[in-house]
Amino acid sequence: MRTYDAYRQLAEQALVPMLSSLGEIPEPLKQAMCYSLEAGGKRIRPVLLMAACEAAGGTAETALPFACALEMIHTYSLIHDDLPAMDNDDLRRGKPTNHKVFGEDVAILAGDGLLNAAAELMAARAVRMGDLRGIRAMEIIMRRAGVTGMIAGQSVDVTSEGKEPREDLVSYIHSHKTADLLEAAVEAGLALAGAPEDQLAAGREYAYHMGLAFQMTDDLLDVRGDAAQMGKNTGMDGNKMTWVALRGIEGTERDAREEIDKAVRALKKLPGDTAFFADFARGILDRNS
Ligand code: IPE
Ligand code: IPE
Ligand code: MG
Ligand code: MG
Ligand code: MG
Repeated sequence: MRTYDAYRQLAEQALVPMLSSLGEIPEPLKQAMCYSLEAGGKRIRPVLLMAACEAAGGTAETALPFACALEMIHTYSLIHDDLPAMDNDDLRRGKPTNHKVFGEDVAILAGDGLLNAAAELMAARAVRMGDLRGIRAMEIIMRRAGVTGMIAGQSVDVTSEGKEPREDLVSYIHSHKTADLLEAAVEAGLALAGAPEDQLAAGREYAYHMGLAFQMTDDLLDVRGDAAQMGKNTGMDGNKMTWVALRGIEGTERDAREEIDKAVRALKKLPGDTAFFADFARGILDRNS
């Protein structure tokens, strides 16, 4: 196992070369895709994917293309999330949003391009691996990103705007728009290492609870975070069905703590040293970006 920063660096160095490995991409499409990919971000999903793979006895190098693919999918989801038709944001990862720089037409295509590039990369790698682990990881990632996963959560998020908060809906939004890609990271990492089903289930349980807490703190940061530190605007969720709208600030803080406790408890079902994942989960409670 390496440090968070070491995994993060591995992912950052590989993102653009992996994209370029697919062939020639016309301008300004390529520039728009690279703009958002290289803008930074915490790289949580690729870090967790590689860490899970190494924790289960695999290598970060095997995991790297899948880790980059997952970060491409996450980045596409942010580009589309920021569009005027969705959250209408003008600041992301400390820079003007993709559509502010490249226009909505190119931004939409940059998002489409990142999603497709991710699938291409994973499929090519799975073929080269020549066993079922790569296919399994790809299936996990595409399903969690898909119409029963992240896209499902985003669709309920946008269609719930302006409505009275309902616990079942807020839970659905959190578990799908956010927890699903975090579950995909941990589960795909474990699957790439060939971990058995009970470990995959424990990894999912950990990431589910950690993912709910991650979105609860995202909703809290929209109210009381520092835009400069986060690299995105605050006060954008006034009309949204958030956890804070449902439970208030203290209730959200309490629920996030409970979810992190559940996440850390789930780690007991995993063998070996799980301190990396416990520390990461606990850090969510006082994150400021
Ligand atoms: C932002 O995700 C969108 C949510 C799911 C809350 P991150 O907070 O991981 O954003 P980056 O990748 O660090 O920019
Ligand atoms: C976005 O949730 C989640 C995805 C992009 C899938 P938010 O709309 O709360 O994310 P931010 O606050 O804009 O980063
Ligand atoms: Mg949104
Ligand atoms: Mg948003
Ligand atoms: Mg938010």
